[in-house]
Amino acid sequence: MKEFRIGMIGFGTVGTGVAACIQKNCDLMAARIGIRPVLARIMVRNLDVDRGVEVAEGVLTTNVDDVLNADDIDVVVELIGGTTDARTFVLQAINNGKSIVTANKALLAFHGAEIFAAAEANNVDVYFEASTAGGIPIIKTLREGLAGNRIESIYAILNGTCNYILTRMEHEGIAFAEVLDEAQKLGYAEADPSFDIDGDDTAHKTVILTALAFGRWFDVARMHTSGIRGLDVQDIENAAGMGYKIKLLAIVKPAGNDVDMRVHPVLIPASSMLGQVSDVFNAVCVKGDAVGETMFYGRGAGRDATASAVVADLLEVGLNIAHDSARRVVPFQAHDTYGELTPIDDVRSRYYIRLQVEDKPDVLSRITHIFGESNISIASILQKETTEPVPVVLMTHIAREKDVQSALQKIAGLDVVSDEPVLLRVEDL
Ligand code: NDP
Ligand code: HSE
Repeated sequence: MKEFRIGMIGFGTVGTGVAACIQKNCDLMAARIGIRPVLARIMVRNLDVDRGVEVAEGVLTTNVDDVLNADDIDVVVELIGGTTDARTFVLQAINNGKSIVTANKALLAFHGAEIFAAAEANNVDVYFEASTAGGIPIIKTLREGLAGNRIESIYAILNGTCNYILTRMEHEGIAFAEVLDEAQKLGYAEADPSFDIDGDDTAHKTVILTALAFGRWFDVARMHTSGIRGLDVQDIENAAGMGYKIKLLAIVKPAGNDVDMRVHPVLIPASSMLGQVSDVFNAVCVKGDAVGETMFYGRGAGRDATASAVVADLLEVGLNIAHDSARRVVPFQAHDTYGELTPIDDVRSRYYIRLQVEDKPDVLSRITHIFGESNISIASILQKETTEPVPVVLMTHIAREKDVQSALQKIAGLDVVSDEPVLLRVEDL
């Protein structure tokens, strides 16, 4: 049987998963696509590390050119992460006429336009299924399965580390720092886990999904991004008491000529499908104008689930080689003409607000007066009986972000309010 030869850069969590998956299911893969994948070379920085996966003699190299410049390598898998060396290596491989498979969402969020232009110029493919939502085949779904749809909205849980942390906080009432350590040991977190917990990793993935859905690479630095770092267990408990869960959500939807694209923690109904996505699992809800509501669910991080996505991409490249059909599916094509990102100030939402206040007469009326003045209608209000300062939890009706922020600024300045007010957006889905 004909073979196609794979060169891999990076032999960490995902890289070892890819090697293990190919070793285990190689015959099955070859039978399915009619061409055999051969993991021919792997670039590592240190030959002496035991990575728990055996590879044949001569496969490991410390010289990246043995992968990037070698005539006997058909496709390069980039699994090192980051945006500097990864960009250099990917562009070098493309310029050498090699197709790319990458799991690197940061690379694509910052350099996607440049990389896809280079791929087009060199008539090679760039596949990136593992970059977004781990093992869920959401890239292929948006690019092919839903190609006949105009996308109306995407709501998604895209970071396995954060969803794992939030689930443990919710079930066990422990602070996130403790759980983060476990998420790292399980191989879910980024090399720098602040990318996970501050929302940047979700933002990178959101830019990728938006590029596929709306045909434009928006600037990740300009989108509203906040993560779960400051989240307090008491807000998770308060949300639960009202029938909600807190999830780190990617939200993408057209708003007039613009696109409302943001990442932040959100209260969503506990009974909603996204509300029931726990642990390392991710889910992507896509609404298309023809298909209606869809939801895709699976492991969002971890060695084997991510390797599954990388290997699926490799098999696409294998099929392209077998049938001489490079660039059969254009990875990214500008199509719609959306203007800009909706500024966060203009977003309209319901809000969860927690204030720490003194327990004395007139406090609540002073607070509600400010909300009333700012045209914000309160849907519910709860003051707990506890030692001072007491928490007051409010839910608003739909209001404009700018109005809510300015009301909160005034409330924070009241002499009866201690601590910074906590504000979380609510999506009733
Ligand atoms: P790891 O840190 O486990 O592995 C990275 C590997 O790349 C290590 O072997 C490291 O070598 C090597 N490496 C790092 N920098 C360089 C460099 N400049 N030159 C050569 N080799 C280098 O990361 P993961 O496997 O977890 O992640 C890899 C990619 O996959 C990242 O882009 C990540 O965002 C993405 N991803 C990860 C998922 C996961 O669940 N872990 C899920 C989806 C995507 P050394 O051992 O010497 O440090
Ligand atoms: N650190 C990422 C996560 C890996 O936890 O989702 C998968 O992209």
